Amino acid sequence: MNILFLAAEVADLVKTGGLADVAKALPIQLKQNGHQVRVVMPCYSSIKNSENFEVIGQGAINKDTERQIDYTVKHTFLTEGLEVWLIDCPRYYNRTSLYGDNNQAYFDNGERFAFLSVAALDAAQMLGFCPDIVHCNDWHTALCPMILRLKYDKNSFFKDTKSVITVHNGAFQGVFDRQQIFFIPEIAHVYNDMISQGSYINFLKCGVFYADKINTVSPGYAQELTTYLGGHGMTKNFQDRQADFVGIVNGCDYSDWDPATDKNLNICYDISTMEEKILGKYILQRELNLPMGDTPLYGMVARLTDQKGVGILIPIIERFLKHKVQMIILGSGDPNFENALSDIAGRYKDKFIFVKGYDNVLAHRIEAASDFFLMPSIFEPCGLNQIYSLAYGTLPIVRAVGGLKDTVIDYDDNKEKGNGFVFKEPNAEELLSCLRRTLIFYLEDQIEMQRVKRNAMQVRFSWSDSCAHYEALYKEALAKPRWW
Ligand code: ADP
Ligand code: GLC
Repeated sequence: MNILFLAAEVADLVKTGGLADVAKALPIQLKQNGHQVRVVMPCYSSIKNSENFEVIGQGAINKDTERQIDYTVKHTFLTEGLEVWLIDCPRYYNRTSLYGDNNQAYFDNGERFAFLSVAALDAAQMLGFCPDIVHCNDWHTALCPMILRLKYDKNSFFKDTKSVITVHNGAFQGVFDRQQIFFIPEIAHVYNDMISQGSYINFLKCGVFYADKINTVSPGYAQELTTYLGGHGMTKNFQDRQADFVGIVNGCDYSDWDPATDKNLNICYDISTMEEKILGKYILQRELNLPMGDTPLYGMVARLTDQKGVGILIPIIERFLKHKVQMIILGSGDPNFENALSDIAGRYKDKFIFVKGYDNVLAHRIEAASDFFLMPSIFEPCGLNQIYSLAYGTLPIVRAVGGLKDTVIDYDDNKEKGNGFVFKEPNAEELLSCLRRTLIFYLEDQIEMQRVKRNAMQVRFSWSDSCAHYEALYKEALAKPRWW
């Protein structure tokens, strides 16, 4: 199949979260399975070396009209020769960040990302890459199925093209005044309660409404999206498309996340050399000025948002720190959370470290050095960090929600297969009880703890399994009748 894969971020080029990991690993796997794949993303000015990427095409949307917008397509190749097209349009992508500055989204994000979708299709035609499947990801590229339908319905180039959308996060929907999308004039006339409200248009709703097939990144979250509690206000949209909607758990890119080969670590280890893991802990303790020793270490790496459960963690951190434990949190996001964590770190210098920012090397070291990894999310479409933790023999502490509940088995529920700790209700007291449960486990039985760590390290979430599900979804999309 020819697959045009659209994403706002792709690991190795730019990354703010798990979307980037998926947008690299899944296309690589598809390519390895013999498909022709082109990944399309914005040419952000922050991408290293992008000025040196080869230009492969020059295009214009609405050529020879007052709405004309010029762009250039550059390309580069990632691991396994995966070809990435970068849409270069400085008025949209020449910014300091991907989505906004100082926790404020750019005012023209609707325009910036609608342009990505429209330019991706234009570029495919210009460069003669006729996609069987256009695979969109999240709200940023969710307008693409609608553009295919409204703008290209009479176009023979795309006559057999089908679309798939993956919802990585239903909370971000991209709601914009349709006047922003002036360069796709067809959109001005679509009034449909399922996708718009007055002059506002909801990008993610458009994707879910118009795509031939839809998936999200775990069966658990797929089920939650169809409920009123978990649907982020889009319950009806998902319910209406239930026949075309599935959950596919993300894989783990073990070429990046394997403690036996991880180049970011000072000391590598595997299931047979677990004693080396503790040396990594000592080194990280020294690096971050924590007292070195066999104190149970709790790690967390996350975007600091409500989604990640930071709001239920902060109220109980100090109570937990009364015990002989250490905690390291790496992340950035909501300034209220950042300030609260900095305050606590100032008061518990020998127990609690907060590193504000984004640091890939430190993220790997925290995964490897910690005994437990915290992910008390309020909702979690899939979650990759708990999957990485399992691979590193770092027991995840998660809430029973979305992909977390699909990937972690609670030790007290299932002693034999248990590989982490799970709590149910999204409140601070339950989280604290769960943390205490893990501490007692650590203190009481180190031999059993080593066994559970080995359990964790044996679990595999391979991209080849997940990719087979995507290929089946593509085939179902191709088998659907055309819309006209
Ligand atoms: P989400 O995509 O919702 O942020 P995931 O668990 O799916 O959550 O993926 C998060 C990814 O981003 C992981 O690869 C994680 O290591 C990385 N990450 C998140 N915050 C940071 C940070 N502050 N520094 C380095 N890596 C981070
Ligand atoms: C989103 C979700 C996360 C998921 C990631 C990749 O950012 O929040 O749960 O793992 O996308 O699919």
